[in-house]
Amino acid sequence: MKIGIIGLGFVGLSFASVLASKGYSVIGVDVDKEKLKKIKNGVVPFYEPKLQSMLKKSLKNCLKVSTNISDLEKCSLIFVTVGTPQKKNGEIDLTMIKNVTNKIGKLLSKTRYKPVIIIKSTIIPRTTQRVILPILQRLSGKKIGKDFGLVTNPEFLRETMAVHDTLYPHVIVLGGDNNSFMKKVRKFYYNLHHNVPIVLTNYGTAEIIKYANNSFLATKISFINQIANICEEIPDVNVDDVSRTIGLDPRIGNLFLDAGPGYGGSCLPKDVKAIIDFSTKLGVNPTLLAAVEKTNKQQINSIIELIKQNIGKIHGEKIAVLGIAFKPETDDIRDSVSIELVNMLVKLGGKISIHDPKAIENARKIFRDKVKYLNSVSAAVKDCNCAVIMTAWNEYKKINNESIKHMTTKFIIDSRRIISNKNLNAKYFAIGLGQKL
Ligand code: UDX
Repeated sequence: MKIGIIGLGFVGLSFASVLASKGYSVIGVDVDKEKLKKIKNGVVPFYEPKLQSMLKKSLKNCLKVSTNISDLEKCSLIFVTVGTPQKKNGEIDLTMIKNVTNKIGKLLSKTRYKPVIIIKSTIIPRTTQRVILPILQRLSGKKIGKDFGLVTNPEFLRETMAVHDTLYPHVIVLGGDNNSFMKKVRKFYYNLHHNVPIVLTNYGTAEIIKYANNSFLATKISFINQIANICEEIPDVNVDDVSRTIGLDPRIGNLFLDAGPGYGGSCLPKDVKAIIDFSTKLGVNPTLLAAVEKTNKQQINSIIELIKQNIGKIHGEKIAVLGIAFKPETDDIRDSVSIELVNMLVKLGGKISIHDPKAIENARKIFRDKVKYLNSVSAAVKDCNCAVIMTAWNEYKKINNESIKHMTTKFIIDSRRIISNKNLNAKYFAIGLGQKL
């Protein structure tokens, strides 16, 4: 069975590599020639643990890459994994999905093959039926269910776990009409993951499942962050003990209850905004989700307030921000709350030094000469009056009195509570921990 995958980002490249490594004949398509060149040479164009070796294996097997969607003519399954980035008003930008759909429509018009088009990109409910399907039918002159299939198949993989989550998904969701094309996709997934539940539903339900999933995860984070803020005001109280304990209640569950500076990344912030926008347009007031978002933003404001309270002002003060990536083990800084913090500190006149084990090159593209880039923790905090740990990199767990000995004022904000047991010779504040009595 030949498989086409359009869009070789985290989702597309992981999927392509895993499938090819298992022996499927896969053609990955992307418009970015530079990216394809790297992929062809076995180099993953972003940092994602375990993907490099998986890609190399898949290139030895049957992975091919191309810039041309017409190379997918003989593929029975064509997966669409292009991005749906955010517009300023919160809506998702469908430019890439529409471009790809146009090209698939033209390909369908010329071929006698009958592929299934499978949409993995995150899309607002009714996009498949109202945007994608009309383009495909108009440009191909062909009929869904007869000449081609169309299935919505949202993806739940996490960055830094992309290979694992592609190999071992917790669920497969397939939205569309229950016809022979759907059966083909179902069989494909059943062969790939024997013991994983496959949910068959319609387009709209499959589309909203993804938003419900991500906005619930965001809700859990904002919830625990709010509890963390309360804990901070009670001497000796520890939010991690609270999370661990409430997590033992099976109705709550122990995952996604790590308090911190707020959720970031390429999905959660975007998806919460998009569902808020969509809900408002439907006339449903998104009170809870709006509060989730507001609570998330509040975390960074609280850090700024804390710095002001402790060092007096921000203007002219040297402050180190440790960790720019939105989570450890990635160089991805998209919608990282750390970026927001640095931007706010720079705007307030702070002299900011930043450090990150993997994301400095990406950070440079954003901050340019507005901040200093240091390649060690001790160099970043040197002469500073405050250091803020934003990302839970393992390297930061090793911070000790030696690493901070050249700080002018030893004041540390640990937004992830990773050095709370260190008894540092410093004024120490951690999100979610009440001050020691
Ligand atoms: C997320 C979803 O988890 C995934 O299912 C979806 O497909 C894409 O979006 P990802 O963006 O890779 O995945 O990151 P995730 O691990 O979910 O973390 C998102 C953000 O939440 C990070 O900024 C992280 O630091 C924060 N977070 C996560 C917390 O602050 N506390 C937690 O308990 C968990």
